[in-house]
Amino acid sequence: MKIFLDTGNINEIRDAASMGILDGVTTNPSLVAKENRNFKELLKEICSVVNGDISAEVVSTELDGMMREARELAKLDDKIVVKVPLIKEGLKAVRCLKAEGIRTNVTLCFSPNQALLAAKAGAYIISPFVGRLDDISSSGMELVHQILTIYDNYGFETQVLVASIRHPMHVVEAAMMGAHIGTMPYAVFTQLVKHPLTDIGLERFLSDWKKLQK
Ligand code: G3P
Repeated sequence: MKIFLDTGNINEIRDAASMGILDGVTTNPSLVAKENRNFKELLKEICSVVNGDISAEVVSTELDGMMREARELAKLDDKIVVKVPLIKEGLKAVRCLKAEGIRTNVTLCFSPNQALLAAKAGAYIISPFVGRLDDISSSGMELVHQILTIYDNYGFETQVLVASIRHPMHVVEAAMMGAHIGTMPYAVFTQLVKHPLTDIGLERFLSDWKKLQK
């Protein structure tokens, strides 16, 4: 499973990229707004740090505006994947952008039927939001399972990106199900490496080794 960071913070991105296991980055308007920086400059900087797909979202809600924004974003770097909301106009945009060779990440997916339509429209990535479904007592991971089954049934090439990940168990479940990508906040990313038994074990090895040196 590819591991993406879900952030607009360049320091977090640089740190994760330095580990050599970062496969991409997803941003959204809320995350970018927190950084208080020029959007395009930020995207260019992210592209210079990360060797992988970088999702950047349009904010228009009608076809012409989405197409205009998408073309501008895609021009910035070959790594850019244009994020489009899962609404009627968004699906039209996905179809048109694919015809122009621009890759899309269809975002705000909350149902298997939405995911089916996105794949039929030619989405490069679909983003089911698992945490937000869990928040309303629905199963986010069940949605991922449904989408993977549907895509497998018909051989769709659209990649399933598990978004709105809130904790490491979401990552485990996504990987167990065979999701293509998991995108997560920096805090979750750093939790993945940690285990208390690793820390205790390392401490013991090092103190035993010190004894040998005496
Ligand atoms: O970037 C989309 C998604 O990952 C947002 O997550 O935590 O705001 O529901 P969250």
